[in-house]
Amino acid sequence: MMDLIVALLRLLPPETAHHVTVELAARFGIFLPRAPADDPRLAVKVLGLDFPNPLGMAAGFDKNARAFRAMLRQGMGHVECGTVTPRPQPGNPRPRMYRLKEDRAVINRMGFDNEGMVWVGDRLARRRKGIVGINIGANRNSPDRIADYRATFAKLAPLADYVAVNVSSPNTPGLRGLQQRDELHALLGALVEVRGDSRKPLLLKIAPDLDGHALDDIAEVVLDAGIEGIIVTNTTIARPASLQSRYASESGGLSGRPLFEPSTQVLAEMRKRVGTKLVLIGVGGVSSGADAYRKIRAGASLVQLYTALVYEGSGLIGRIKRELLECLARDGFASVSDAVGVDVKP
Ligand SMILES: Cc1cc2nc3c(=O)[nH]c(=O)nc-3n(C[C@H](O)[C@H](O)[C@H](O)COP(=O)(O)O)c2cc1C
Repeated sequence: MMDLIVALLRLLPPETAHHVTVELAARFGIFLPRAPADDPRLAVKVLGLDFPNPLGMAAGFDKNARAFRAMLRQGMGHVECGTVTPRPQPGNPRPRMYRLKEDRAVINRMGFDNEGMVWVGDRLARRRKGIVGINIGANRNSPDRIADYRATFAKLAPLADYVAVNVSSPNTPGLRGLQQRDELHALLGALVEVRGDSRKPLLLKIAPDLDGHALDDIAEVVLDAGIEGIIVTNTTIARPASLQSRYASESGGLSGRPLFEPSTQVLAEMRKRVGTKLVLIGVGGVSSGADAYRKIRAGASLVQLYTALVYEGSGLIGRIKRELLECLARDGFASVSDAVGVDVKP
């Protein structure tokens, strides 16, 4: 039945399919069969939270916090809603999302289309169980981007389990400049000040298109600011020569299979720099248990995905968890946590 739904959705233009999926999840999610309880070997305790398994829904799928219940019900260990900006905004003109079928990839230039922090806050306020993070950003035409992050943090952090600071979307002009040393220092300093004693876990989401020096700077500023982790990575502006699809030269961020190797390399590089002092979340091109396992061995305590679900549907969630357990058993690890970072020499 689910396979049929996925096949039908793939006949629709990608953004329409996305909206239909979110709408169905929001309205009928409670009728979905609940995924079986997770094997205790998959449990991960980080950020002061008990994750039932390491797999999470990456930001961008549930931008307006409408579908997180359905995703948790289907076995996700956590869902990251957003990116949310202070004011609602329509995003870039359509079309702005492309399926690169031959490459098992997607290119998007959505541009933070979202309903704004007030609506999203109302929905998050009604949530009950399951781990939900909120990913925050700045409005495209904002005169003061740091003020935007402060505002979304103040409004939404109390309603979420953790906050992800998105400075890595390629679709808001200038946004990625916030990854530079001085700007990042100012941004994280402002957010640490707003969170005060609440100690709400804060993570920075970075791009894959950063060289060694940029990673050095980010690691240093993040450690210095005293936030808890880094999400590695967002989509890439690179276009590998291997791409086959006719949409390969569309502008925007590329996600899915071609992002797996570069994002895993950046993850391992970041692990080398921060060791066990920060929690790393690995994202980019995960489509199997073996992929999730590679991210974990490269330093990720948690793993997120989005694009592979577009191609495989939600049956993939259970498959990845089963395969991951097989990988752990094969290599003699008693739990996910035991395998974190084993491929990276300090
Ligand atoms: C259509 C689409 C929209 C996205 N929107 C966001 C977003 O709003 N905020 C964000 O931090 N990442 C966003 N992402 C990036 C994903 O969260 C993830 O970092 C990236 O797609 C790599 O993972 P994947 O290869 O498993 O898709 C988006 C990705 C896609 C495909």
